[in-house]
Amino acid sequence: MALLDADTPSAVLDISGLTVRFDGRRGRVAVVRDVDVRVAPASVHALVGESGAGKSVTARAILGLLPATATVSGRVIYHDADLLSLAPHRLRSIRGKRIAMVFQQPDKHLNPSLRVGAQIAEVLRYHVGIGRQQALSQARELLDLVELHGRDVLRAFPHELSGGMKQRVAIASAIACHPEVLIADEPTTALDATIQSQIVTLLDRLRRELRMAILFISHDLPLVRGFADEVSVLYAGRVVEQASSAALFSCSHHPYTDRLIAATPDPTRRGQRLAAIPGTVPDPDAVPPGCAFAPRCPLAVERCRSELPALRRIGVADERRSACHFAEQVAEGCLADE
Ligand SMILES: Nc1ncnc2c1ncn2[C@@H]1O[C@H](COP(=O)(O)OP(=O)(O)O)[C@@H](O)[C@H]1O
Ligand code: SF4
Ligand SMILES: [Mg+2]
Repeated sequence: MALLDADTPSAVLDISGLTVRFDGRRGRVAVVRDVDVRVAPASVHALVGESGAGKSVTARAILGLLPATATVSGRVIYHDADLLSLAPHRLRSIRGKRIAMVFQQPDKHLNPSLRVGAQIAEVLRYHVGIGRQQALSQARELLDLVELHGRDVLRAFPHELSGGMKQRVAIASAIACHPEVLIADEPTTALDATIQSQIVTLLDRLRRELRMAILFISHDLPLVRGFADEVSVLYAGRVVEQASSAALFSCSHHPYTDRLIAATPDPTRRGQRLAAIPGTVPDPDAVPPGCAFAPRCPLAVERCRSELPALRRIGVADERRSACHFAEQVAEGCLADE
């Protein structure tokens, strides 16, 4: 699948030049820089990268959920409207209704003192304006949709449910108004492996049935590999590689992606040694000039330390973009292995 580019009109969410800076003790620091991501309708676009890469800040910036210390620039186009410059009341009417979000910790976003059915019904009453009984009956249908059946769940309080069930409730609440886009920020990270794959299977079914696009944020590459259509790899706040999932996992064109994949356990290869990436992600206020990955990159040369590599199209098929001066040479390694 070719990547959506700026000439393709079909993105349901079109993020361009997104930059987020925070005011702190050490002045204003950029944590997300010039991020371009285009999410196609009813597709899964994964945003991956190590902890601190800027994934959650990107997600929150899209929906105006950052604290007042953040300065956000760029554009987030949803149906001709730029969400970044929308009046607060218009953004509120889109958030949770047309673009919804689920988080890593459902606990933090469920009301502990409200029964599950009542809190889903509340979302419907706020956004759709229907009466209590009708909202409760729709809440029950939504719980069925996320495979939580029966009156017991409807009447349960969040603390009476397991972690996986709570995440299903959060998803039911997020999809209550049949959003066109779901932003899922590490929705399975707090769950054990079996439940993780059940939640991903559920999200995939909902994507198809509701024709809903998903911006899936994760650091879990095996999960992303089987689920995403497109992948954007974030490093130190910048997109360093962007490709269809098939293209990225068959042959990455950026040393960071390459290392990230090599550092991921592969269940089909038992007893393997993982090639951990040396060093750590730089703090946002200490990102080196040139390529931010240079201090950890085995291929770094002088040019990398002085010249910022642009995110550029690689090849003629527009299958991918890479922000490495030597993307073509990086790819020669995997092409030679084939
Ligand atoms: N409210 C905030 N104020 C200042 N810095 C923040 C704030 N929220 C996040 N950051 C910083 O932004 C960077 C990216 O964070 P985040 O998007 O949460 O990373 P992740 O990719 O793990 O989701 C981190 O260095 C984090 O410390
Ligand atoms: S630009 Fe240089 S330092 Fe950066 S990833 Fe490519 S080879 Fe490595
Ligand atoms: Mg995060």
